[in-house]
Amino acid sequence: MTHISRPGLLSANDLSLPPILHPQISRLLDYHQERLFHWVDCYGSPLNIVVPSILNDNLSCLRNTIEHHAVSGKIFYAVKVNKSQSLVREAVTAGLGIDVSSRYELRDALDAGCAGQEICASGPAKTPDFHKELIDQQALISVDSREELEDLVRLLTGRDHGRKARIILRYRPDGAAKSRFGIAAQNMPSCLEIIARHNDDFAFEGFHFHLGGYAPETRIAAFWELTRWVEAARDLGLVVSMIDIGGGLPVRYVDAEIYDAFLARQDAGHYRNAVLPASFYPYGHKMDAAGWMETFLSAKGETDQTIADYLRNQAITLGIEPGRSLADQTAISVFRISRVKELEGGHHVIFVEGSSFSACETWFASEFLIDPVLVPSRQSAAHRENHRPTQAYLAGHSCLEEDVLSNRLIAFSRMPQTGDLLVYGNTAGYQMDLLENEFHRVPMPCRISLDADLTSVHIDSAARAAKTHGA
Ligand SMILES: Cc1ncc(COP(=O)(O)O)c(C=O)c1O
Repeated sequence: MTHISRPGLLSANDLSLPPILHPQISRLLDYHQERLFHWVDCYGSPLNIVVPSILNDNLSCLRNTIEHHAVSGKIFYAVKVNKSQSLVREAVTAGLGIDVSSRYELRDALDAGCAGQEICASGPAKTPDFHKELIDQQALISVDSREELEDLVRLLTGRDHGRKARIILRYRPDGAAKSRFGIAAQNMPSCLEIIARHNDDFAFEGFHFHLGGYAPETRIAAFWELTRWVEAARDLGLVVSMIDIGGGLPVRYVDAEIYDAFLARQDAGHYRNAVLPASFYPYGHKMDAAGWMETFLSAKGETDQTIADYLRNQAITLGIEPGRSLADQTAISVFRISRVKELEGGHHVIFVEGSSFSACETWFASEFLIDPVLVPSRQSAAHRENHRPTQAYLAGHSCLEEDVLSNRLIAFSRMPQTGDLLVYGNTAGYQMDLLENEFHRVPMPCRISLDADLTSVHIDSAARAAKTHGA
């Protein structure tokens, strides 16, 4: 990975967070600027540009680590991370399973060519129709509660389809006692007994958990806790062939040292609202996803055996459901500047075409802590008076005071101008389309995907193109 050149600290009070960019993305920003302007002209702003082939780089690092430990692994791409169908297709082509949490994600996975048996469904509130489709497709169902298990028993009893429901039980580890997800330890025995009693209805495959946060330690603890339930299941005659540890593998957005220095030096004065957010995603992770997996598989329990040893010895497949870490670097979001306005205090507000509802951290009282890359238009690049530095926050087009892409005052080495582009790197992981909406009746942002050559363009979502450009 290379860093795109960005201004360093402009003064003691200006802190930069240059994004880590995949070489393909750097190439796009360095050598295809005219095309960026052309695409925004054609498809509107904001424009999400996906380069799905980059997913394979993330995948091979992860696969290498798992193979290095000679562990059997099953990777399910968690499609919730991004609405781009091109990423689902890329994942399926790469031989991944798909983790779905709705009937719509299920259908998109099938449309992308994923076989039903390669799909795993998580989520606490699956409807009967969703259950039926999953059973018909022979997808793996992660059962979130005893109530869900009982619903499945009712659904399967008297259903004359001859198909069993393939299930794993989602466990709620002791360390996540307050979570509403998963089955607490005290309910695990009764769930296992129900499954053993309904042997004709269920094909039991093992256990699952997914935890908040990104620390390997919490997963390691949950994994060793689970081994007790592996024994309990086997005592009831059930076969345990998989432990699925969910997602939450980390992604690095900025260099760890730069990030730590930023955190140490920032204060409320760096924010337009003078409020320092209480928490951030750890954008400057020291560990990448492969390093995380290495730590996890090498972790020892009470005996000398590592998690990798245990999985091998027990002939259990490690399931994982990475979303963010597989989508790492696969997309950028391009915003066209519609106005730059000077405010009291000498800094500026930059209005962009688009709203913060797609780049959404500010709606969680947090901040996407990477700097956007300024791509000046030809006209503004020609004007020398634009070459003075400023600090600015970024606002969306709506009438809401809180519609800001960044509360943070971002340092620019030259004055951004109307018509320039601001490009946010690495937006595929929950940034670009989690909270999209049509506020002010503005159509949804468009999504295009590029082949690895960066020149062949495919429309990933046609709504805006069809609505505004008759394409
Ligand atoms: C059950 C489950 N699996 C996988 C994921 C993907 O997590 P991540 O994108 O952090 O890898 C999530 C995210 O919320 C989830 O709820």
